Amino acid sequence: MSGTVGSAYSRRAAEYTDLFGSVSAAHPSDRQLVTTWAGGIDGSVIDAGCGPGHWTQFLADLGLSARGVDLVPEFIERARAEYPGIPFEVGDLEELGCEPGAAGGILSWYSLIHHEPGSIRGPLAEFHRALRPGGTLLVGFFEGPVVERFDHAVIPAQRWPVAGLSAELVAAGFEVIESHVRKTVGERPQAAIIARRADAA
Ligand SMILES: C[S@@+](CC[C@H](N)C(=O)[O-])C[C@H]1O[C@@H](n2cnc3c(N)ncnc32)[C@H](O)[C@@H]1O
Repeated sequence: MSGTVGSAYSRRAAEYTDLFGSVSAAHPSDRQLVTTWAGGIDGSVIDAGCGPGHWTQFLADLGLSARGVDLVPEFIERARAEYPGIPFEVGDLEELGCEPGAAGGILSWYSLIHHEPGSIRGPLAEFHRALRPGGTLLVGFFEGPVVERFDHAVIPAQRWPVAGLSAELVAAGFEVIESHVRKTVGERPQAAIIARRADAA
């Protein structure tokens, strides 16, 4: 699955970057949410599924030690060129390339949307492993009343109810701290969950 997702984004990396590769293109409430969440992070942060790296730079601008990981070499090349002070690596959400407990925070901003419900536990287990106890995860995703596949512009994606994704997070060892849903006429409903690694190391 990740090979298919990677090649679909590789083909459209330039187009994606032009359309979405800027934090100023994001909704103001998303910038606010990421800013507030980042303010509570103790330690370094991984932007997991960073795409062209704009949120990674945003986190660095907030004073965090930030690193970006993405499947797609074209995104990583672009991110390295655009934001030379930040480490970016090609990698998978299931293998973030850090020691256990190394991260104080993980941002997964719309990077889990292509995982089928049956495969989402892999990356959630890796996020849990990579976070220090008490570290927090911010997940952005498309919201819907049931878990359901839809035709995303790049490759089909899944929408999740907040309760459904929260249950997966709890099963993976997280405590859900807060959730947000935004419904705007003419747009897909969007949501975010902040969850904390609840257990001892
Ligand atoms: C919708 S884009 C979001 C990119 C970026 N976070 C943003 O907000 O613009 C989804 C991203 O997740 C990445 N991705 C999806 N599955 C992945 C996986 N298994 N491992 C690493 N990255 C993945 C894709 O390559 C793509 O960059």
